[in-house]
Amino acid sequence: MLHDPNRIYIFDTTLRDGEQVPGCQLTTSEKIEIALRLEALGVDVIEAGFPVSSPGDFQSVVELSKAITEPIICALTRANKNDIDVAAKSLKYAKRPRIHTGIGASDMHIKYKFNSTREDILQRGVDAVKYAKKFVEDIEFYAEDAGRADNAFLAQMVEAVIAAGATVVNIPDTNGYCLPDQYGSKIKYLMDHVKNIDQAIISVHCHNDLGLATANTIAGIQNGARQAECTINGIGERAGNTSLEEVAMILKTHQTLNKYSKINSKHFYELSGMVSRMMRMPVQANKAIVGKNAFAHSSGIHQDGVLKHRENYEIINPEDVGIDQSAIILTARSGRHALKHHLERLGYVLEKINLDDVYERFLLVADQKKEIKDDDLLALMSDGTERN
Ligand code: KIV
Ligand code: ZN
Repeated sequence: MLHDPNRIYIFDTTLRDGEQVPGCQLTTSEKIEIALRLEALGVDVIEAGFPVSSPGDFQSVVELSKAITEPIICALTRANKNDIDVAAKSLKYAKRPRIHTGIGASDMHIKYKFNSTREDILQRGVDAVKYAKKFVEDIEFYAEDAGRADNAFLAQMVEAVIAAGATVVNIPDTNGYCLPDQYGSKIKYLMDHVKNIDQAIISVHCHNDLGLATANTIAGIQNGARQAECTINGIGERAGNTSLEEVAMILKTHQTLNKYSKINSKHFYELSGMVSRMMRMPVQANKAIVGKNAFAHSSGIHQDGVLKHRENYEIINPEDVGIDQSAIILTARSGRHALKHHLERLGYVLEKINLDDVYERFLLVADQKKEIKDDDLLALMSDGTERN
């Protein structure tokens, strides 16, 4: 296969793994609206759903397959014929269909989920890939709970499913268990030990139970993975999945990684808000990239620094993620520079002596309030100071 080794494919699973979260369920038309925005964002793959799970999910995959042109449309299955039959049917109209099938790879799952043996599970994985291959060319295999699986067995499984026809192999850290160096080493182990590894793309799919999903995804990419599975706002089961916007901005910010995606990050802020509203899942204020405070400065030292030169306290230009400008929030921790900045914005230009006086009065008000807004400033200046 000819692939640029530095190009990272972005696989979005907001509409499948993200949508599994209680309360986040979407209608088919909401899913289409989000999928069209994901297409504009430039994702390579949209995981549209798990068609066997419900008639509604089946229909969503059908409608998304009709509506989406550029990205691959992917449908999830377990490793059994019925799931695969249903997924294949749901993908009938997809221009670029992919079936994502798989089975547990850790001894934990093999014993306590399937009550089976490594040999049997491996065979079931291979059979599922061969069966799915009868319907579509592009087959992704997931080795569930690979994060806790034995590396030698995992390598055996990966080699066998590639030989059976898998074009992409997903190595999920299903329970968000791994440390970044463990997950990175796991990917490297596979790159070094799977003989036919160059015939498939290795994909990383990390959960955030220990807050390490993004770090683990990057560790996987640094060790040879070429597809990253993510969701908008990092939504997903339990503590969530890897956040798409974080991965894309890490690749963009750290050019020394020498990896790139074709994501147009200017859509992030709007898409984040849309997903949050439709899925009824608020974005935490301090969420990297898209949180309300991601480009807000409120302490005097930071405000002074950012007003002197934005990059003193911002490693990302807010415009690059669709935010017009950074915010200088006035609080009791703000300094004269920030106060002057806002007063000038409102048309007041003060001499130093006047500014000192206004600043003292500002602090008295600010100590009583969480944030000082324009109305508060106007009231503060209603002592007769001329506006320019
Ligand atoms: O986390 C996981 O293992 C998954 C698979 C079904 C791909 O979501
Ligand atoms: Zn998952």
